[in-house]
Amino acid sequence: MWKGRFSQDTSSLVQQFGESISYDWRLFPHDIAGSIAHARAQREAGLLTDEEFSSIESGLRGIKADIEAGAFEFRTSLEDIHMNIESELTRRIGAAGAKLHTARSRNDQVATDTRLYCRTEIDGLLRSITDLQKALLDRADRYSATVIPGYTHLQRGQPVTVGHHFLAYVEMLERDKSRLIDCRKRLNISPLGSGALAGSTINLDRKAIAEELGFDDVTYNSMDAIADRDYIAELLFVISLAGVHLSRLSEDLILWCSAEFGFAALSDAHTTGSSLMPQKKNPDVCELTRGKTGRLVGNLMNLLVAVKGLPLTYNRDLQEDKPPLFDSVDTLRLILAVNTEMIGAMELKEQNCRSAAADPMLLATDLADYLVKKGVPFRHAHELVGKAVAEALASGTPLDQLDFEAIDPAYGPDAKDVFCIERALKSRTNPGAPSIANILGELEKWRERLI
Ligand code: ARG
Repeated sequence: MWKGRFSQDTSSLVQQFGESISYDWRLFPHDIAGSIAHARAQREAGLLTDEEFSSIESGLRGIKADIEAGAFEFRTSLEDIHMNIESELTRRIGAAGAKLHTARSRNDQVATDTRLYCRTEIDGLLRSITDLQKALLDRADRYSATVIPGYTHLQRGQPVTVGHHFLAYVEMLERDKSRLIDCRKRLNISPLGSGALAGSTINLDRKAIAEELGFDDVTYNSMDAIADRDYIAELLFVISLAGVHLSRLSEDLILWCSAEFGFAALSDAHTTGSSLMPQKKNPDVCELTRGKTGRLVGNLMNLLVAVKGLPLTYNRDLQEDKPPLFDSVDTLRLILAVNTEMIGAMELKEQNCRSAAADPMLLATDLADYLVKKGVPFRHAHELVGKAVAEALASGTPLDQLDFEAIDPAYGPDAKDVFCIERALKSRTNPGAPSIANILGELEKWRERLI
């Protein structure tokens, strides 16, 4: 492609070192869509005849069909997807193919292709996240009123329900979707026409090209358009954060499936055994979700570090944007699919949940609130209940069996009524709190929103 200036062939080691076709081949549908739009603009500008445009278009469509059929031979010597397609086009259709690269550089071409790729993948991820939300919603619905302890510091805190717990993840995933939508909006502008870095002396209708490719606008600084990889960094961040959310869910489930908690059971289809210990049933999907999230975060760091020292505009370092991008998209897609399937089939061991939630200590805060309602300042109420807890622990008496009126006159004869889980949940009626009525309302809201 640049043979005019050179008298030696590129060393085969340099070819091996510099090729990206082994991974950027997957940009082919976007590269071809971009080339067809670019060629159409060339025809409009009088640079191509109708016949030349038609042969470029049908040539490119033929190449696309061959790649899809696995009948296209990618050549490492042609470096990347852009040159593989262009060179094959020229081989197939002759002179018209050699006109395609007018007023275009691989620099604006690759920026266009990766934006189109990100846009397509974001749309797919949005659908996959919604599927996972639906699986969570289904389980939240099934176990809406199954009481479990809620934890802080992994110490039992206050009662919640499994429904409330799962709906927390539905919320997180909804924020991930809104970040993806936001990222999509920002990246959906066309850099095509920015050339190598300074546009071109041949003016094609950039807005028409953008419109054909479904972009909302064009970029307005050719140097920024070529150097910019913000949209990839943003997407890698959003993917990392979604991974972090699912990694936390994994951690919850790993704990819940342990004998120590015994709250949940994953299906045989979503767990693995041990080659040595016959009794084992391991939550590998959760562990791998947690483990692979490390790679998602690593991919974000990889890109940020690759870009941080680059002078404007294009530098070959930027070719290294694609392996982390493709890996993160593929990894999150698979994490979402496997978790959707696993969560949909997960069952709760309700008896174990019930006995863990029967711990009267979970209602110590409610007892302090009871005193507050009797006029005791909260700090004083906290101390009084703290003393009752200490006494319960020291004497081995369950908290709800103490003689409260003997401990302090602030307690009335109704103090023991506090220790009713149903009542405790029922009184948590403020928005966001886990009363069963609130949870049912949230379930209803999400069912409507996630169709
Ligand atoms: N394969 C290259 C990349 O992904 C395309 C752009 C090449 N541009 C260049 N000036 N060598 O970044």
